[in-house]
Amino acid sequence: MRPHRRVSAPESPSRQADRIAFLTEGTARHGDFWRFASHVYVAASAELAKEAYRRTGKDFKVPDGMFRLPDQVRRALPAGAFLPNSIAPARSHFGHSAVSRSVGVLATEAARTADLWPTDQAVPVLPALRRMFSRMGAHYCFGVDAAPLMHVEAALARARESAPPRTLYLPTPTRRRLQRRLGALAGRIGALMEERLRQGRTAEPDLLGVMIESSLRHGTPPGVNITFPLAVILLASQEQPTRAGGWHLLGLARHPDLADRIADEAALLPDDPRKITAADLARLTHADAFVRETLRHYPPIWLSTRLATTSTRVGEHRLDSGDRLMLSPYLIHHDERYHADPERFDPDRWLCPDAASGGDAAATGGYVPFGAGPRLCPGAALAGVELTLLVALTARALRLSCPSPEPFRLTTAGALTPSDLRLVFSHRA
Ligand code: HEM
Repeated sequence: MRPHRRVSAPESPSRQADRIAFLTEGTARHGDFWRFASHVYVAASAELAKEAYRRTGKDFKVPDGMFRLPDQVRRALPAGAFLPNSIAPARSHFGHSAVSRSVGVLATEAARTADLWPTDQAVPVLPALRRMFSRMGAHYCFGVDAAPLMHVEAALARARESAPPRTLYLPTPTRRRLQRRLGALAGRIGALMEERLRQGRTAEPDLLGVMIESSLRHGTPPGVNITFPLAVILLASQEQPTRAGGWHLLGLARHPDLADRIADEAALLPDDPRKITAADLARLTHADAFVRETLRHYPPIWLSTRLATTSTRVGEHRLDSGDRLMLSPYLIHHDERYHADPERFDPDRWLCPDAASGGDAAATGGYVPFGAGPRLCPGAALAGVELTLLVALTARALRLSCPSPEPFRLTTAGALTPSDLRLVFSHRA
């Protein structure tokens, strides 16, 4: 018999939430592995999901999805990978050391956004967050050259939003527009790259610099192998963070006690955001726990798909080549086998290192907001720092509250989003 556990639909009742309810109810009824539709299965336990994540590139692949990369790039992609071989080593540099160097710049953007919220009226939240994350992403990718590339991904983001989320690439007019915009963005990035190469600036301490160096080391001339992946990364750098940021600010509004705690902690940060360092961030334990808990409760990528590339098994379950497997961070994060009292929003679970804690869940694969295995989100470290700064610097400056009734629509197409979220900001005395 399956161990008892609880998974339940999120609190906001809507047609969109029905998709989550369908998955959670199916899982409650059928167990950890079940048939969702013809040749489509749900792997609901962390163990099965972890196995599929880990074997991506070997027995599973990520469906082609929204973008079609140029053939030259596609040919250079190792099985199941996102980055061409020549820049794959750069993946490790997306990590903590590069992000640590950028903390002051990212903090400046977060503080600037906190200063700009209109106060004492209900204001739309996601557009301003999108602008903030877009600026942060541009700094991270292009460092001192960020300014001309700020917000240039906006046209691509709009085209992407108008394209229905599909896991299959079909050359419809909408898709072709998307491709043209992706090509235009890659072209702008290419011009910047050429300029750097002309100036001999091949080792700048930003993502473009890391990719150029990696490509040259591999003996591949820097070109579309860098510009197209970087265009996708630039877009991605504002996409999920914006949704996640919305859930975080909603959380601050719903839990003023937690916001006060975070504000007290953030009061110890240097007043000048440019002087905030990675060491300062490491002391923000309450903000960090709040971020982890928000990403547990509301993982923006609540559902991922894998395609079996061969007849295989996952756990004891047989799959034919071409079968689809749905992996849901949402189901895993709301499963009481991995998180005690999973419907409770409780950042403190991340503060105590005992059995019910998040550390334990991470070890068992019960915490996967950024996926896992070879396709683990390369922006995880960046997103963690950005969200911690957003939460800390917003709570330090402002109190947040929710207008009534419900200040958002829960949408699940593509990602879990507090669409049209509106909140009221007021200055802390
Ligand atoms: C809270 C913010 C974020 C969340 C929740 C998130 C989540 C994820 C998840 C779950 C995946 C893997 C999907 C799968 O396995 O099917 C992924 C992939 C990816 N993410 Fe993120 N992400 C976030 C922020 C970022 C940022 C800031 C960047 C860019 C700097 C980024 C760039 C990417 C890229 C390029 C991929 C594709 C990687 C590949 O296919 O190899 N993400 N993200």
